[in-house]
Amino acid sequence: MIRAEGEEPLRIPSGALKGEPMWWRDAVIYQVYLRSFNDADGDGVGDLDGLRARLDHLTSLGVDGIWLNPCYPSPGADHGYDVADYTDIDARYGGLPAFDRLLADAHDHGLKVFMDLVPNHCSVEHPWFRQALAGDPAARERFVFRPGRGDEPPNNWQSVFGGPAWTRVDDQWYLHSFDPGQPDFNWRNPEVGDYFEDVLRFWFDRGVDGFRIDVVHMLFKHPDLPDWPHHPEYNILAQNQPEVHEVLRRWRKLADAHGRTLVGEIWVPTVGDLALYLRPDELQQAFYFDLLVCPWDAARFRASIDRGLEEIVSTGAVITWTLANHDVHRTVSRFGLVTRTGGPDTRPRGVVDVELGVRRARAAAMLVLALPGSVYLYQGEEIGLPEVLDLPDEARQDPTWFRSGGTEHGRDGCRVPLPWTAEGPSFGFSSAEETWLPQPSWFGEFAIEDQIEQDGSTWRLHRDALLARPGFQGPLEWLPTGREDVLAFRRGSMVCVTVFGDEPYRAGRGVPVLASEDAPPGTVAGGSTAWFHE
Ligand code: NOJ
Repeated sequence: MIRAEGEEPLRIPSGALKGEPMWWRDAVIYQVYLRSFNDADGDGVGDLDGLRARLDHLTSLGVDGIWLNPCYPSPGADHGYDVADYTDIDARYGGLPAFDRLLADAHDHGLKVFMDLVPNHCSVEHPWFRQALAGDPAARERFVFRPGRGDEPPNNWQSVFGGPAWTRVDDQWYLHSFDPGQPDFNWRNPEVGDYFEDVLRFWFDRGVDGFRIDVVHMLFKHPDLPDWPHHPEYNILAQNQPEVHEVLRRWRKLADAHGRTLVGEIWVPTVGDLALYLRPDELQQAFYFDLLVCPWDAARFRASIDRGLEEIVSTGAVITWTLANHDVHRTVSRFGLVTRTGGPDTRPRGVVDVELGVRRARAAAMLVLALPGSVYLYQGEEIGLPEVLDLPDEARQDPTWFRSGGTEHGRDGCRVPLPWTAEGPSFGFSSAEETWLPQPSWFGEFAIEDQIEQDGSTWRLHRDALLARPGFQGPLEWLPTGREDVLAFRRGSMVCVTVFGDEPYRAGRGVPVLASEDAPPGTVAGGSTAWFHE
């Protein structure tokens, strides 16, 4: 780790801590996949009191807030993304009292708290859907029920998790873009919009600072629900319809009236499409997923960053960078992939060199943290945790696994409960020996508590980077490097250099601030990022 001798890292309090209204523009938010963060009640599943007990870890890391994956009552067909009650908290996570405790403590720690809003679909156990199943025509109007074509579904749409997007109940079928346990709402029925405004108000009044909004581009479907002739290409009839923008305008007014923030999960064909969701009266933030599917390649990173700057930053909006989340392979395993044998770009399968992956993931984290905008950091990334690629089949829980007939492994491998300690039952995650997804024996090597103590650990690198990051101010200016595998840019008085290849690079500029790998003075090691102060 390089730091200027005798110099402490720059300490500029973030906007969040200063209480600025636009604090989110450069915030770092830590994503908590609650089931796998920390378990207080010993049942092998993470919970809110478990999270509360570890808030110090998050403040010492230096993040501005947390995004909590859904923790509402849910039968768990998609681990919480099938919501049975939008204004309560699942008893397994501690119920509303535990949520209120968490919120109060998080705020005392100076952390913002974002929840996860799931407006495209609910659970089959939601009271509205139960009424619909019982045959109530008004309740069916809140979902997408249609007669079939003979014994065939109303159209040929495919569920994101595999298989048909329709399930038959009587002479009618209902649409579910994901699992059959997740019926899609009919957003053309005004009752649905009114309902979700009440949901937002409920949590805003309780003190929640914002929402990450699940698949917000999917709310509206083509009104005629025609067949999609181009499977498996992106089905433009089932998502990204123009009507969604009106809903976002209503939500933004509500968020502004309460001083809250909305970040969208949006998968659309182009960055230009994404920018439309970030117009000044729509969402403040939307994840920039372009980098999340980028291989470890300087030209690809440069092109992706440029696209974001040209199409989002130029409109006055900010980019919300992210390299990983609970739906994709961890960065160590994506960037450490040496031979690819299959899988989608978000979850490529093949042979992984973990050491190489850790090195590149550290470099990538520092690169992204130097860019203009906000960053979301998925739990476990701060310790360079690899994807668990070899979960036993009988342990897998992701509906993708079942609905693809076992051909697509799905997302369980990035959701394995965190290792807090090197030893002990479930590596300090729980007092239970068994966790809801099994942890591999090597997990202890990545233990958070050990990394907190170790100079040069990935945890320390993240902490130091978060401390020094506010030094990067203003627009990005690319610098010539003379090498195709090296990217360098300046923002204000700080310079970020990333070497994608294996050969060290002679940097020759500024005072070293931080580096993801040690290197002789004036050089940046191969497969690393270094920051300099000019
Ligand atoms: C996106 C979420 O990130 C994912 O985990 C979930 O399965 C789908 N939306 C459906 O809610």
